[in-house]
Amino acid sequence: MIPVFEPVIGEEEITNVVTALRRGELSGTFGHFLESFENEFAKYCGCRYGVAVTSGTTALHLAVAAAGIGPGDEVLISSSTNIATALAVVHNNATPIPVDSERETWNLNIDLVESLITPRTKAIIPVHLFGHPVDMDRLMEIARKHNLSVIEDCAQSHGATCRGRMTGSFGDLACFSFYANKIITTGEGGMIVTNSDTLAERLRLLRNLAFTVPRFRHEVAGYNFRMTGYQAAMGLAQLGRIDKILAEKRRVSKIYNKYLEDVPGLHLPVELDWAYNVYWMYALVIEPEFGITRDQLAAYLHSKGVDTRTFFCPMNQQPCLTSLPGFKAVPCPVADSLWLSGLYLPSTYTLSDDTIRDVCELIREAYATQGGKSSSCA
Ligand SMILES: Cc1ncc(COP(=O)(O)O)c(C=O)c1O
Repeated sequence: MIPVFEPVIGEEEITNVVTALRRGELSGTFGHFLESFENEFAKYCGCRYGVAVTSGTTALHLAVAAAGIGPGDEVLISSSTNIATALAVVHNNATPIPVDSERETWNLNIDLVESLITPRTKAIIPVHLFGHPVDMDRLMEIARKHNLSVIEDCAQSHGATCRGRMTGSFGDLACFSFYANKIITTGEGGMIVTNSDTLAERLRLLRNLAFTVPRFRHEVAGYNFRMTGYQAAMGLAQLGRIDKILAEKRRVSKIYNKYLEDVPGLHLPVELDWAYNVYWMYALVIEPEFGITRDQLAAYLHSKGVDTRTFFCPMNQQPCLTSLPGFKAVPCPVADSLWLSGLYLPSTYTLSDDTIRDVCELIREAYATQGGKSSSCA
């Protein structure tokens, strides 16, 4: 089976992790690797501060807490996202309000944002889905006009840019994931980046059980979201290769585009003229013209040894959210349709051109068996 993604670990990661272990950089918030990874990653994003945590989920949780969001507050979030985006709001006792997607990039539809703002709205969490940036210049203008905090969910967008500027450098806070299938990985892990001294200080305090002086007397209820030193060591090695990784991600997407662009009924991932898409996963939408459904295509590919994943179940349809008191049933017809018709293909950046071509050949075969056209890759 060709998996959707396989992590790629180099010798440098292994050397760094062993060095961290030998130096005793295990737990706590000290050590060479933790500080270096935070500084280097923040610098990469064009931000002053990085605060490393245990996952993308806890990065979002901590960011929402540090932004001072709590009971009675509403937070606008992309409807098409991983549940972690919404849970960060829920676990801070606030209410996530889903914003429907736009058809072209599948990111939140900025045209809808102002209509969803109420006196309770405190923040927006845009998700740069599958590596295509949200138009952050436009979104920040709206957020500033309404005095809203912005927390970018960059779990899928390390290195993606909007008009040449890094995703993660626009919002008040931005959260990254280093889960094994992410653009760079520490196994589990995450980071929040910010340019604000005050927010960085707050994040560090809350990450570490809000220890102050005297030790063991706590004014604030914090969390233990600390990353280990040996994870940071791995992250630092991965970060050293990020430009190469992104180049390979873009190669994979280019090959898929080449062999799929003339197949009717496929909406392929776009890259708008102001955007740099890092194609975290090569995602596409199966339209009626393709002749068979997304599920039929996924089953066909699976039978031929190719694994795929569906798009996300949108936040407006999540039982764990819709059952919450205060949840608003905002219609999200586009996100609903993406959930039924979107899938992503094997996207490991070491896939050979030939393997990608073979996957495309199978997709063309699936189309041809329905549409009756001869459709092999040129
Ligand atoms: C958009 C988005 N946000 C948040 C997360 C959560 O990250 P993690 O798995 O590191 O907790 C993910 C994970 O896949 C994600 O895709």
